Amino acid sequence: MPTTTHDVVIIGSGAAGLTAAINLAQDRKVIVLAKGALDGGSTNWAQGGIAAVLDAGDSFDAHVEDTMIAGAGLNNRETVEFVVSEAPAVIERLAALGVPFNAGEDFGERWHLTREGGHSHRRIVHVDDATGHAVQVALLKAARANPNITLVEDLIAIDLITSRHGEKYSGDGHVWGVYAFNKRTKHVDALLGKATILCTGGAGRTYLFSTAPRGATGDGIAMAWRAGCRVSNMEMNQFHPTCLYNLEVKNFLITEAVRGEGGHLKLPPGVPGGGERFMPRFDPRAELAPRDIVARAIDHEIKRLGLDYVHLDISHKPPEFVRHHFPTIHARLLDLDIDITKEPIPVVPAQHYTCGGVVIDLDGRTDLPGLYAAGEVTESGLHGANRLASNSLLECFVFGEAAAKHIRARWDELPSPPPIRPWDESRVTNSDEEVIVQHNWKEIRRFMWDYVGIVRTTKRLERAQHRVALLAQEVDDYYGNFRVTPDLIELRNLLEVARLVVRSALHRKESRGLHYTLDYPDMLPQAVDTVLAP
Ligand code: FAD
Ligand code: SIN
Repeated sequence: MPTTTHDVVIIGSGAAGLTAAINLAQDRKVIVLAKGALDGGSTNWAQGGIAAVLDAGDSFDAHVEDTMIAGAGLNNRETVEFVVSEAPAVIERLAALGVPFNAGEDFGERWHLTREGGHSHRRIVHVDDATGHAVQVALLKAARANPNITLVEDLIAIDLITSRHGEKYSGDGHVWGVYAFNKRTKHVDALLGKATILCTGGAGRTYLFSTAPRGATGDGIAMAWRAGCRVSNMEMNQFHPTCLYNLEVKNFLITEAVRGEGGHLKLPPGVPGGGERFMPRFDPRAELAPRDIVARAIDHEIKRLGLDYVHLDISHKPPEFVRHHFPTIHARLLDLDIDITKEPIPVVPAQHYTCGGVVIDLDGRTDLPGLYAAGEVTESGLHGANRLASNSLLECFVFGEAAAKHIRARWDELPSPPPIRPWDESRVTNSDEEVIVQHNWKEIRRFMWDYVGIVRTTKRLERAQHRVALLAQEVDDYYGNFRVTPDLIELRNLLEVARLVVRSALHRKESRGLHYTLDYPDMLPQAVDTVLAP
C-alpha cells in the first residue's frame, strides 16, 4: 500500500478543486484526485452560467438581496456580501484563463447576460448552454500545464486521515490527508499533506431522480462528518423544476435560461386548462420565481391532475433565436425526436443541488485543523434555504481561492504529517454478495425520493428514518467484514448523508425554502440553521 506525501491534498477536480489547485501551485506542490474521470463531476454539466454583477444598471445590493430572498433569509449576510463582491473579478480571471464567454448582443455590452429565476436583473454570463464544460476544459488545461499539480483519476477517497490514525495518538483531530481506494491496483493508498481540501461536490444521487452525475454520492460530507466536522442545513435539497422527462434519458437538465429567455410552463393537452400557463396562478414572478416555488408548483399540478410531466415551451420564439441560445439542448433533444423550435419539452422536477454541507468559514476552514472545504460539499452560508440560480459555480471559485490563499499565507505555521498507520487490508475478504450492495443503493434512492422529496410530512420522514437505520446496520456489517469496493464506499456514504438529511428535516419544525412539510406549513419568524455536531 503506497504512502505518498504532498504539500496539499485536494479531493475533487471540479470547479472548486481545480481553482484551489491553480492558486496553490504558485508556490506549493499539490495532488488532485478524482474518483473517476477528471471531468466526471457536476461542473462539466453546468448549463446556465455564472452570476455576477456586470451590467451598469445592476448592483451588488440587488444581487445580495436576490440571494437572500431565494434563500428565505437563512443565508449568512456576511458570506453573501463576500461572494457577490468577488464575482466580477472571478469572471475576469476565468476569461483570462480562456473561458470563451458569449459576447454581448447589444451595443456597449461586453458579455451576453441571461436571466434566471429569482434574479431581478440579467446577470448570468455563459458559454452558450454548456458553460460548465467550457469552465472544466479551461481549468483542466491550466492545471495540466502546471508542473506543481499532479492530477490523478480513479482514486476514490474512503476516509480522512486524522490524528487517530497516527502511529502515536494525539487526539487533536488534525487532518493529514486521506485513505483512497485505487481502482486500478485495487489497494488502498495513503495520501498525506500539511493541508487537505475537500472539493467532492454534492449528494444528488441520494435521490432516485437527479440531474447530478453518477459520482454525486456525498462522499465529502460523509467523510467530514465521520472525522468530526459539523454539518448544516442538510434538509435543504434543491429540486430543479425542469429536468427532461424521458423514459431513456433520466437526468438531462433543461436550463433555467430557457425560462429566462421567455419559455413558458404549460399544462399538457387533454386535461382541464391543457395548453395554458399555470405559473401565474402560483406566483406573480411566474416562470421566473425562485426554484423551490416553481418546483413545488409543478409537483402540485402533476399530483392534482395525475400527470407524468408538464410542458416547457419556447417554440413561440423565432427558431434561429432558440437554436442560437440553446444549441446543446436543441441538438440533444433532436436526437430524441423533439424539435424545441416547434414543440414543447416534457419536464419534471428532479434533485439538482445539495444546499447543506460541511460548515466552513470565509477562509474555507472546517472545524478540524488542516482540513478545508470548498464548493457544493460545503455550507458556507451563501445559499440558505434555497440556492439562487448560477450562484453555485461562483461559490466554487470564491472559496477554492479563499482556501488556497489561507493555506499559502500560513504555510510556515502548518505542522508536517506525523508517521501514519497504513490501511489495514488483512481483515477483509471479497464479498460474494455484490448484488445486495446494488439493491441497497436503489432502495435508499427510491425511499428518499418517496419520503424525503419536495413535499414532506413527519410520518414520511419517520418512515425514512426507520429504513435508513435498518440499512445502515446491514451496511456497517458489510463494511466491517468485506474488502472495500467503490460501490460499497459510495453506499456507506449515501446512507450517512441520507441519515443526516432525514435527521435535519425532522428537526426543522417549519416550512422554509426547500424544506416544505404539511405538518408545519408556516415559516417561523426567526431563521435558524440546522447544525448537527458529531
Ligand atoms: P464537482 O464539479 O461535482 O466535482 C466533484 C469532484 O470530486 C469530482 O472530481 C469527483 O470525482 C470528486 N470526488 C467526489 N467524491 C470523491 C471521492 N470519494 N474520492 C475522490 N474524488 C471524489 N451551477 C451554477 O452555478 N450554474 C449552472 O449553470 C449550473 N448548472 C448545473 C447543471 C447541472 C446538470 C448540474 C448537475 C449542476 C449545475 N450547477 C450549476 C451546479 C454546479 O454545477 C455544481 O454545484 C458545481 O459544479 C460543483 O462543483 P464542485 O467543484 O463543488 O464539485
Ligand atoms: C440551469 O442552467 O438551470 C442551472 C443553473 C444552476 O443550477 O444554477
